Amino acid sequence: MKLEDVKKIAIIGSGAMGHGIAQVCAVAGINVVIKDIKQEFLDNAVSKVKESLTFLVGKGKIPQKTLDNVMNNLLTTTLDTKTAVADAQIVIEAVPEILDLKKSVFKEISGLAAKDTILATNTSTMSISEIGAVVDRPERFVGMHFFNPVNRMKLVEVIYGNKTTDETADLLVAVTEKINKKPIKVLKDSPGFIVNRINAPNQALFSAILDEGKEKPCEIDAGMKETGMPMGPFELADYVGLDVFCHTLSYYSKTLSKDYTPGKLLSEKLKNNELGMKTGKGIYDWSAGKAVIDLSKKSTTITPMELLAVQLNEAVKVYKEEVSTSTNDIDNSLVFGMNAFMGPFGLCAGQDPKILTDTLNKLSERFNLEIFKPEPEIIDGSYKNFNK
Ligand SMILES: NC(=O)c1ccc[n+]([C@@H]2O[C@H](COP(=O)([O-])OP(=O)(O)OC[C@H]3O[C@@H](n4cnc5c(N)ncnc54)[C@H](O)[C@@H]3O)[C@@H](O)[C@H]2O)c1
Repeated sequence: MKLEDVKKIAIIGSGAMGHGIAQVCAVAGINVVIKDIKQEFLDNAVSKVKESLTFLVGKGKIPQKTLDNVMNNLLTTTLDTKTAVADAQIVIEAVPEILDLKKSVFKEISGLAAKDTILATNTSTMSISEIGAVVDRPERFVGMHFFNPVNRMKLVEVIYGNKTTDETADLLVAVTEKINKKPIKVLKDSPGFIVNRINAPNQALFSAILDEGKEKPCEIDAGMKETGMPMGPFELADYVGLDVFCHTLSYYSKTLSKDYTPGKLLSEKLKNNELGMKTGKGIYDWSAGKAVIDLSKKSTTITPMELLAVQLNEAVKVYKEEVSTSTNDIDNSLVFGMNAFMGPFGLCAGQDPKILTDTLNKLSERFNLEIFKPEPEIIDGSYKNFNK
């Protein structure tokens, strides 16, 4: 199949991600059908797309005729899976992150879609190969990981499962470019793919800091905000939800290292349903609608330098494991997936390896975590010679 053969994309699931994916595909002129399990969910998704496009027209980012074309011609909805996938060239699944649900959705789709239809999952953590094992043609199964909010975040990780062919991945790369996003190929189906994996050890670090109890999260957040971060790391964890934060840590503890096991304090918060902003209390008290952080009281023992060293160390692992074999791709993933100013390889290109090594060794000793131990290529500085 070629890019010009892609006339219709079916999106399964119309929630936070599904409606955003539908929007960007339709704006690019592709027919899109969204399928969900309740009409009210579909209606809600359509009004969100309309609201978002109206905003973009108001800002002069898209012409009114694009909005009209999307709403009157390109975007349709259905409650019936067969109607959704029968004549679609690509199906993108965005149902909740529950393995059995995703498998049953794909089992059904696999029996209804045309032989050459490409089936893609937007899972943020799960194994592409494991989900893809239920479909008839796993060579046409692939990960297509968008970032939230879809209409603003540029990155799409195009992830190979163990049977995905280059032809399948290449077509999705072309489709991603057509919908005005930045595709980065993830060559191995590995936990967290690129962006979430590189951020994983910092999540473990934040959990360890909470358990150590020496420093106040609000003082670390104040220090980070001073460097220009819009939110401190603990504020962000509360904002995203401590349940989501712990869920991903637990997943990495099973798939990457026991060091990722959620700490005592986070586990207690979870037990007490103190999940952050959504429950009014988490690491912070959110009863006033926001976390109160006194910017005049700052901790300086955990700084952006520590976080960067941890990121670079994990990026080196991602490169060595051949999840990605290009430091530019790894850096661009963080730039386009997280709005980072630069990726860890770029930021550490002129860095003294001794400083990075000492920083990582200190963190590893302080928190008794192996995952912070510096990789040999950090110690000898040879990470600077990796393929661009
Ligand atoms: N929210 C994020 O920040 C984010 C970012 C990247 C990836 N993801 C991934 O995207 C996927 C969807 O996440 P979300 O945040 O959009 O979830 P969501 O809960 O907002 O939406 C999921 C939608 O799927 C629908 N659904 C459930 N079962 C269905 C079925 N059998 N057929 C059709 N629709 C069904 C639900 O009714 C709901 O509308 C998950 O795998 C998630 O991990 C989420």
